[in-house]
Amino acid sequence: MTMMRWFRALACMGCFAALIGTTPALAMGGTPEPLEPTGRWMEKSFGNAALPPMGWNSWNAFHTQIDEAKLLGSAQAIVDSGLRELGYRYLNIDDGWWQKRRLSDGRMVVRTSIFPSAAGSDPEQTSFRPLVDKLHAMGLEAGIYTDIGRNACSQGYPGPDSLLPTGTVAEREVGLYDHLAQDLALYFQEWGFDYIKVDGCGLNAFSPDKPAVKAGQFRAFPALVVSDSVNQTRVADIRALYGQVRDALMRVRPRQDFVFSICNWGTANVRAWGRDLGNLWRTSDDIEPRWARMLYNFDSVVTRELYSGPGHWNDPDMLYVGQGEFDVNHLAEARTHFALWAIVDAPLIIGYDLRQAPKAMLDVLGAGEIVAVNQDPAGNQGVLAYTSDDLQIIVKQLSTRDEKAVVIFNRGTEAVNATLTAAHLKFRPGTVIQVRDLWQRRDLPPFTDETSFALAPRESVMLRVKGLPQIADGLYLSEMPGRLYVAVDGIHALQADPQIHRPVNMGDGTTRGSGPRPALAGWGGPRADSTPYDNQLRLRGTVYNSGIGALANSRLQVKADGAFNRFSAQVGMDDSSLERGARVRFEVYGDGRLLARSPALGADDAPFTLAARVAGVRTVELVAREIGQGSAPAIVTWGEAALRH
Ligand code: GAL
Repeated sequence: MTMMRWFRALACMGCFAALIGTTPALAMGGTPEPLEPTGRWMEKSFGNAALPPMGWNSWNAFHTQIDEAKLLGSAQAIVDSGLRELGYRYLNIDDGWWQKRRLSDGRMVVRTSIFPSAAGSDPEQTSFRPLVDKLHAMGLEAGIYTDIGRNACSQGYPGPDSLLPTGTVAEREVGLYDHLAQDLALYFQEWGFDYIKVDGCGLNAFSPDKPAVKAGQFRAFPALVVSDSVNQTRVADIRALYGQVRDALMRVRPRQDFVFSICNWGTANVRAWGRDLGNLWRTSDDIEPRWARMLYNFDSVVTRELYSGPGHWNDPDMLYVGQGEFDVNHLAEARTHFALWAIVDAPLIIGYDLRQAPKAMLDVLGAGEIVAVNQDPAGNQGVLAYTSDDLQIIVKQLSTRDEKAVVIFNRGTEAVNATLTAAHLKFRPGTVIQVRDLWQRRDLPPFTDETSFALAPRESVMLRVKGLPQIADGLYLSEMPGRLYVAVDGIHALQADPQIHRPVNMGDGTTRGSGPRPALAGWGGPRADSTPYDNQLRLRGTVYNSGIGALANSRLQVKADGAFNRFSAQVGMDDSSLERGARVRFEVYGDGRLLARSPALGADDAPFTLAARVAGVRTVELVAREIGQGSAPAIVTWGEAALRH
């Protein structure tokens, strides 16, 4: 069949996506939002994820070798160890649960050899309801796994011992494609699940050129995802598919008591649009129980602080605490991995066989003061206050205005003496800062101006600090990333982010070829306390330690919710701007009304002070409008942008 006919055939089947006549490959991911302010908070609220989801998932512990006893054993351990009371409540079944799809009516059949409680009198009429009921009776919630395409990841990338769906080609089509409404009704209404992870292998592992497809084992599906090339990836189509899942979830669970986890490994620019459709979205390929791989996963979120917030979380993948280089013999690494996930508001999903967890491991996962940082209701992802290849300081503003959490993270192979300053914390110089060590659960002596910590290789310190904020009556916008929404990022053409660690073991796990290259789009997105290209914010030689850096032709929304009275910022074209010829006008809107506007500012113009009264305003919008577009994107700085009471 030609590709054209193939697409038409898809259309005729009335499948859940219209992949026909698709948008160009370069499409950035759906309807481009206009630069003009909308006057209302645009981030859609849906699902049940006001805080980063916490729980357990079978994949990192068991891969497809999951069974009911293993799942319930870990569930019981979560209850007995007190982890449930800390917030770990989702017990998520990953790949491997399915036997097949029943051909007579398309109903999914559970593999009852590993989930015996799902068996009924008819081998093809199975039900997860008894297991889900059992989890609910334990005070837990239940999650299930599927794929957005026709086939799943275990089928596309089988391991030697993978438990795979059985039967004919059609019976082995276990993914959502063509069955969206039916499957979601089964999972959420009949079986009662609360959480769904939707993988994406159906969109890249079953293209016509794949040997298993050529051999007739699977129906061909066009490769919408090209993992290492975002500009060949069919971004808009993929976004549309995940959007249909979100909409269908709203229909099967109108009370929105669901969690929707998008798992397309950071491809297709999902790092920019995931928050419009999912409660969490993977920002990178799979984590492995190795230090270098953990760095890669962490790096994929740590510069994405403006894309996360209550209801919508960057997902650097599940925890590997307990295994490999994060096991009981590597407690420094395990603690560091956990502290990093906590401070960037990552979902805390355990991937470990808790039936055999030594106390030292449960103590890591059960570190209540660290979990409390992750679950802080303001939902501000930690922001980099200091960064180098070897050492990073990440600071997270907590919901009490004078408190922050801090991780000082030694990524490298040498011991480091790290200095933490009041400026890193945006606290006033010369004032007393109280410090608590969150692993040791004890207060340290207070300090003024600076203090230091000796860190062994791969060690981190996690603190909670209390002091006097630099702004007496408010906060910088870069201290409230949970209130920001990137409505328009100003990016013209997608570029892969070169800052993410590239471990030796990516891809096929060998050093054949020339090594991993940047693959995840996002380079050029707005940042807190940094330009979009990782330079310091600087206007005519003045460095701004606080502020928002963005590309011109961007629009950022701030959820002020009537809590502030004044906005102010020093604005201008950043000294690092590639484009020098254009001019940029900065505009501040409150609920759609223009409140303040700068003149058109060129590369040599002095910073302009923008100030506006925002009393009663729910949504503040910051627009940087380029006048006369040049050849390269202009880089703009909202220096010391702040909201005051
Ligand atoms: C991957 C996914 C993993 C796991 C696995 C199952 O694509 O990233 O988290 O779900 O598939 O086969």
